[in-house]
Amino acid sequence: MEKISVTLTKNLKEKPKGPDIPFGVFTTDHMFLMNYDRENGWHDPRIVPYAPFQMDPACMVLHYAQEIFEGMKAYRDAEGKIRLFRPEENFKRMNSSCERMSIPQIDVDFCVEAVKQLVTLEKDWVPTAPNTSLYIRPFIFATDIHVGVHASHTYQFCVILSPVGPYYATGLAPVSIMIEEEDVRAVRGGTGFTKCGGNYAASLRAGEKAEEKGFSQVLWLDGVERKYIEEVGSMNVLFKIGGKIVTPALNGSILPGITRKSCLQLLRDKGFEVEERRLSVEELISAARDGSLEEAFGSGTAAVVSPIGTLYYKGETFTISGGGIGPVAQDLYDTLTGIQWGKVADPYGWSQVIC
Ligand code: COI
Repeated sequence: MEKISVTLTKNLKEKPKGPDIPFGVFTTDHMFLMNYDRENGWHDPRIVPYAPFQMDPACMVLHYAQEIFEGMKAYRDAEGKIRLFRPEENFKRMNSSCERMSIPQIDVDFCVEAVKQLVTLEKDWVPTAPNTSLYIRPFIFATDIHVGVHASHTYQFCVILSPVGPYYATGLAPVSIMIEEEDVRAVRGGTGFTKCGGNYAASLRAGEKAEEKGFSQVLWLDGVERKYIEEVGSMNVLFKIGGKIVTPALNGSILPGITRKSCLQLLRDKGFEVEERRLSVEELISAARDGSLEEAFGSGTAAVVSPIGTLYYKGETFTISGGGIGPVAQDLYDTLTGIQWGKVADPYGWSQVIC
């Protein structure tokens, strides 16, 4: 692949100050771009000043949503060094999303290198306050100018960066979640396992309804029988039931989370029995009723490990772990963030110092 060219901005932006940085509001000074066409493959990799895209109104992504994205983070450790967490995993997953969405494959190692170069250039944007990081958002979208429905022949790849604090305004405080009974997010054979924008678009109506009722997000049931637990909009979900960790198996309609995978490995290594399987909403609610549901928490790049304090289902509210942070969620959060911020030993080689 070609060398990445760099064009520096003349107008540096002001960085957010203070320990509280809202999620997803600020963007940095530069972004990474490359383009795809049939003759040249992925080409013209470049770091350029952050700027809006100019788009033809017939640009295919605006009509048929041929688009995918990823989410990862850069962390500043106690020595001021910048670290990434398992970046190869994100670009491998991006290739799986590409395959489902008829987008050409990317070169995983090259994309990791591009992220490293961009983050190194923008290292002053990696915030220093506790629980803050630099969120990295790679994405690809179809750029053919054509109103007919077909896979585009040209694509834009882009990486933008955003300094962030916790995803939920409540931080590590437990969130309240509503089990959604009407809308579904994904179906068998669909795109549920990809990070395509359409999955998130389909989730917005239920999310708004839940927010109106005072809940943070919805917990999805499967789209076929509306019986089995799937995931929360921005995170995978894990439960401690009768001493065991239970989480929905990767069935093609939920996201194969990198934080999920890391949490399961950590939990197994901490000695927990972990079951990846179908979990029906009836089983979950009966465990909540008889007290065997000891903890519930979400996992995600943005959400990290987020305890679920209350679950709402069919007019009833169930409080979990007394509405507080359960010991497993707290310990998992401490271990995972300890590895991400370079504070605890990382026997897995997940955390990589880049500059
Ligand atoms: C992430 O956790 O990185 C996500 O992409 C979830 C959400 C912000 C869309």
